[in-house]
Amino acid sequence: MWSLRLCNRGIRDLLLRMTTASHRSSTTDAAQMGEISGQDSTEIKPFSQIPGPKGLYNIPFLGTAFHFKPFTKYVPDDLLNVLSDARDKYGDIVKMRMGKDYIVYVYHPDYAKTVFQFPYKEHLRIGLDLSETFHDRSGVPRDLGTLQGDAWAALRKPSQEKMLRPAVVANYVPLIERVTNDFVEELRKKGSVDDLLKELMNYTTESVAMLCFNRRLGYLESNSDTEIVNLITKFFIDFQTSITMPFKTYKLFRTKLYKRFEKTYLDIYRIGKKEISAQRKMLEKLQKEGDLDQYLQDEPNFIYSLLNDTRMTDEKINSVIMSLFIAGIDSTANTIAFVLINLALNPEKQDRLYQEIKETMGDENTLTKEHLAEMSYLKACVKESQRLVFPLMLGAIRYLEEDIVLAGYHIPKNVSIILY
Ligand code: HEM
Repeated sequence: MWSLRLCNRGIRDLLLRMTTASHRSSTTDAAQMGEISGQDSTEIKPFSQIPGPKGLYNIPFLGTAFHFKPFTKYVPDDLLNVLSDARDKYGDIVKMRMGKDYIVYVYHPDYAKTVFQFPYKEHLRIGLDLSETFHDRSGVPRDLGTLQGDAWAALRKPSQEKMLRPAVVANYVPLIERVTNDFVEELRKKGSVDDLLKELMNYTTESVAMLCFNRRLGYLESNSDTEIVNLITKFFIDFQTSITMPFKTYKLFRTKLYKRFEKTYLDIYRIGKKEISAQRKMLEKLQKEGDLDQYLQDEPNFIYSLLNDTRMTDEKINSVIMSLFIAGIDSTANTIAFVLINLALNPEKQDRLYQEIKETMGDENTLTKEHLAEMSYLKACVKESQRLVFPLMLGAIRYLEEDIVLAGYHIPKNVSIILY
């Protein structure tokens, strides 16, 4: 399932909050406070006692609506702010009505660890109604973000072997490095930028295009909003709105929201398919001319590796590429934005990182995977920034096949848990 993303407005609100908000608690905080429970059944508190909004907010369907306009200042895709307020008010575990059911939101790394490590037979997630309705109606095959159980595993395994493992991704460093050098050069030429997030989105689109299609889209030079960035932004705004709607009317009718989402997805799909087909033609041409082996030695090619996998069909390849293309752009742009702001707020840490980069790189200009492996402080900065502010609207979403005890509360099986 798609972890939900921050739209530009959401991320800007969050950047503002960062200067004032209290930070997320650390692993040690929880361990010291003995919060991780579950060992002693006498201490287990019932599900009904999990902190969260009370009264009207608990009415099925309608309860969700009270969190948004006209009852509060938040519009429906402002879920992020509603959830940040909830964490400030109720703590590291919160129970809130979302539509018909309760969802448990978890804001603590130790609780997230407990959920991730909980054994499961099938990889199951909450069905995302808008995406599912779209895939069912349009016949467009489901992607990694929307598949469940065995069907998800069948698509995930080949993708993981070829792209989604850190050791494999490292092979793509030279491709991304070229994009990054050009991005830095563009920023240098511009001198200053009005909207860094937009620039970062263009940079990450260009990078993800290199991963997915081995092709540059020419977005770095763009001074205006680019098509993909606009589409991805719209995609996640509509997606977030659909989650917080009390009544999912789009499941019954082709509502305005549904039609807009359908168009956005199909536009992204069209661009993806066009690129995949261009890449296949290029590979066929190289093969005919006897240059393919040399080309593949020079740079990895994700589409080529998928085409040569007997488990993959054309349809599956499209689905995998679509998953990466949609998921990789705003996630990385937001991550970089938060890392930069955290470094700006902590100049002594920024300096330490700068020293590490200088020492590792010496006089070399070309960044390699070996350099990256040496830069442990860089990794620590990214991880710490992600711990302080998770860069997406919501994190992983799970429901478990067995009851679990989390933060001392009993959570019955099949209740959705969102790791924030
Ligand atoms: C720092 C940046 C990123 C963050 C914080 C992030 C975060 C996440 C999270 C929380 C999930 C849900 C995981 C789960 O349900 O267990 C996810 C899924 C996914 N992400 Fe990312 N992601 C990032 C970058 C990327 C990039 C660069 C790509 C692709 C090039 C990508 C592709 C995907 C895909 C395909 C999924 C669905 C996986 C599946 O369900 O099998 N992500 N991401």
